[in-house]
Amino acid sequence: MKTWKLWENERINEEETRLLRRRADEIPVPFDDEGKRDIETLIDAFVGRDDAAGLAAPQIGISKRVVVFKNGQFNERGPLQKGGGQYDVLVNPRITQIRGDTEKGQEGCLSCPDISADVVRATSIKVKAYDEKGNKINRRYTGFLARVVQHELDHLDGKLIVDRGTAIYFPKEKAPFFDKIFKDA
Ligand code: NI
Repeated sequence: MKTWKLWENERINEEETRLLRRRADEIPVPFDDEGKRDIETLIDAFVGRDDAAGLAAPQIGISKRVVVFKNGQFNERGPLQKGGGQYDVLVNPRITQIRGDTEKGQEGCLSCPDISADVVRATSIKVKAYDEKGNKINRRYTGFLARVVQHELDHLDGKLIVDRGTAIYFPKEKAPFFDKIFKDA
């Protein structure tokens, strides 16, 4: 499935940027048919790829508040399987607690091809959400997973690593394009 991107081939994607920058809508609870379909579409899009730690619905053109990411059960040596408990789905998620330190780490994003950014994130968060079946859940995430969750939840508010990055990295040969984009940032 196609991933929506801010730019591609050194050209800004105006239409995709508009959706990626939008605040996504909540999924009605209990889930209606459309909500269920959107959740399934996101899971299927994520299970079918191996180039991301997580995926948010706006990244596949669905402006809804749902994200999916590999959880602590994921085994790097095998493929991600549907239903195997190797990923978490968070619907209408809300961070209810931020604890501990912050940490700087380098992040990439399928919607920001060719760049990475240093982003400061909290190392321990608590999230309230619904799972893919509509059950209420409360989860704590720490370390790398806390980073992934904060990254994915940012997508739901139209925020990307280019907004959060304290430093942005890209290949030298693409400098003419990216220097232009980031000069005002
Ligand atoms: Ni991303």
